[in-house]
Amino acid sequence: MRIDKLLANEGYGSRKEVKQLLKQGAVQNNNCMIKNGKTHIDPINDFITVFGEQVIYKPFVYFMLHKPAGVITATEDNREETVIDLLEPLDQLREPFPVGRLDKDTEGLLLITNDGKLAHQLLSPKKDIGKTYYARIDGKVTEEDVLTFKQGVRLDDGYVTKSARLEIIISDVESEIYVTITEGKYHQVKRMFAAVDKTVIYLKRMAMGDWYLDNQLEKGEYRELDEKEIHYLQHLEAKK
Ligand code: URA
Repeated sequence: MRIDKLLANEGYGSRKEVKQLLKQGAVQNNNCMIKNGKTHIDPINDFITVFGEQVIYKPFVYFMLHKPAGVITATEDNREETVIDLLEPLDQLREPFPVGRLDKDTEGLLLITNDGKLAHQLLSPKKDIGKTYYARIDGKVTEEDVLTFKQGVRLDDGYVTKSARLEIIISDVESEIYVTITEGKYHQVKRMFAAVDKTVIYLKRMAMGDWYLDNQLEKGEYRELDEKEIHYLQHLEAKK
């Protein structure tokens, strides 16, 4: 890997600023000064320092985004704003992508990473990871719906969903609920309510397993995951 790319990736400034650092003699590899940005280094085994401080190479990035409505869950698009557009340019450098999909009008918890292995694990249908949503529903959600969701709902294409946990917060002409599903079919929550003749008017993902949306994050804000959260997601198994 080129030293200028490593330093830009690790937040030492733009390519131009990094070039300046190199020119100044601030950068060393195994105690030898490097001045040429094109110099290839081994980011894992070489001992790189900037002004004497070690540069720690982090190949993967993990972000929790509070997705707002109005942006699409994609990496790039010609017309629409994507969740990746919400990241600072520096955080886009390592080409992170969203794990799973939330509809354009859905808000809430979204993992963005470049760790393909973790993404694959989290999306695997075998893992049965519970995704919990808060929703406002046009219509009175009843105990019968709770039972129907538990037994499995037949969607418009004939597919019968796996058992889902529906918890009523308010049951009225407009209801509020939490629902936990372990699958990720297209528009799944909306289609499950459509199957019981109700309409989702607001949808927000609150959690994946016991990994919760940080309530300090405003819509559109994101933060890096801490080690504990990364470890939790890497070892997340279905709760039986
Ligand atoms: N179910 C939906 O209908 N939409 C989402 O965005 C997520 C789950």
